[in-house]
Amino acid sequence: MEKKAVLIVSFGTSHLDTMEKTIGKIEEDVSEAFPDRKVYRAFTSGMIIRKLKRTENMQIDTVKEALERMEADGITDVAVQPTHIINGIENDRMMEEIMSAMGKFHRIRVGKPLLSSVDDYKKAIHALMAETVLREGEVLVLMGHGTEHHANAAYPMLEYTFHALGYTQVLVGTVESFPELKNVMTKLEISGKKKVLLMPFMLVAGDHAKNDMAGEEDSWKSELEAAGYEVRAMLKGLGEFEGIRRIFLEHIREAL
Ligand code: CO
Repeated sequence: MEKKAVLIVSFGTSHLDTMEKTIGKIEEDVSEAFPDRKVYRAFTSGMIIRKLKRTENMQIDTVKEALERMEADGITDVAVQPTHIINGIENDRMMEEIMSAMGKFHRIRVGKPLLSSVDDYKKAIHALMAETVLREGEVLVLMGHGTEHHANAAYPMLEYTFHALGYTQVLVGTVESFPELKNVMTKLEISGKKKVLLMPFMLVAGDHAKNDMAGEEDSWKSELEAAGYEVRAMLKGLGEFEGIRRIFLEHIREAL
């Protein structure tokens, strides 16, 4: 008799409020959708794991530790689903850990990150727009994370796809890579619009969303306001969108 499990792998966040609403909710949905599989949690950020231990006395496994725990629990059939947005550095690292643990189980299958196929982009966009109400004349500016990995191409692809689907009032920038806020601002100027709704395009609304995006100083909000825009900031992580969580469930089903 196979003992089955799903390992949900997230970058992680030290903000417990958003963790519950995003990572916690995804895990809940997975456990409902796959009642024959026990759900395990791992984070890929060692920094966040250490911070949670220190400040909340919360113990979270790395991918390696979670796989060891599953083996010790007698799990033989493993599905792994990352909650990563793109197939970048965190996903590569996760894959390395999984590869070296292959021998521990009868079967390991791995689902893809959020934005993998062209269909994923379209579904993610529809999921976002289905739950986002823009005011008259408002432009939606999304803050993605961004990476030095070649997978950063996902962000311009995302904006392109928004426009191809008719959502021309949406712009995508990244906090750590390209496109930058200044590239977004150039497009905003061309649009002639004066109102902006800021939202993270990240799984959680954690540090980057609260500080770099919506903070009162040195943030996208403050820079846009200084440039004369009327700005609303929405602290809602992608994991809070039902349609986004549904894509992750589909990726598990695909892998199985
Ligand atoms: Co970051």
